[in-house]
Amino acid sequence: MEYRTVTSEDMENVGRQVAKKMKGGDVILLYGELGSGKSTFTKGLVNELGVEDVVTSPTFTLMNVYDAKHPQIKKVVHCDTYRLRDKDDLEEVGITDYLYKPDTLCIIEWPDKVSHLLTGNSNIKISIEYIDSERRKIVME
Ligand SMILES: Nc1ncnc2c1ncn2[C@@H]1O[C@H](COP(=O)(O)OP(=O)(O)OP(=O)(O)O)[C@@H](O)[C@H]1O
Ligand SMILES: [Mg+2]
Repeated sequence: MEYRTVTSEDMENVGRQVAKKMKGGDVILLYGELGSGKSTFTKGLVNELGVEDVVTSPTFTLMNVYDAKHPQIKKVVHCDTYRLRDKDDLEEVGITDYLYKPDTLCIIEWPDKVSHLLTGNSNIKISIEYIDSERRKIVME
C-alpha cells in the first residue's frame, strides 16, 4: 500500500486511514528521516483510535501510553527511540509489557534501535520518504 501527501494535514489523514486497518497486538515499525512526518502520522493514527489526549512526541519520555476507544484496541503505545542511549532503557520503561498484547497497538519510531525486542510476528513496516520539502511518500508493507 502506498500513499502520497503534500501537507501535514494529509499526513494525519494517512495515519487515520492506517488506523482503520490495525488490530490489537499489531506493532507498527515506523521508518523515516528526521522531520519526515512520523509524529504527524502518529497523531492522526492515535486520534482515530479515540485518544483524546494531546499526542506529543515522547522524545524525552521514550514512551507514551494512551487509552483508546476502540472495540479491540484498548491502549496505544508510542515510542520514539531516537535519543535512546542504552538499548535496554526501553525495556526498563516497560515496553515489553505492551508489545504484541492483544488489546494494545504499539508504534515505534526508529525501530532498528530496539530490533532485539521486535521479534513477534505481527510487525507492520511503514516508511515515510521525502520527495521534496513538502511531499512525502508513505509505503506500508
Ligand atoms: N507532507 C507532509 N507530511 C508531514 N509533515 C510535513 C509535510 N510537509 C511538511 N511537513 C512538516 O514536517 C514536519 C514533520 O514533523 P514530525 O515531527 O511529524 O516529523 P518526525 O519524523 O516525527 O520527526 P523526528 O524524526 O524529529 O521525530 C512538521 O513540521 C510538518 O509541518
Ligand atoms: Mg517524531
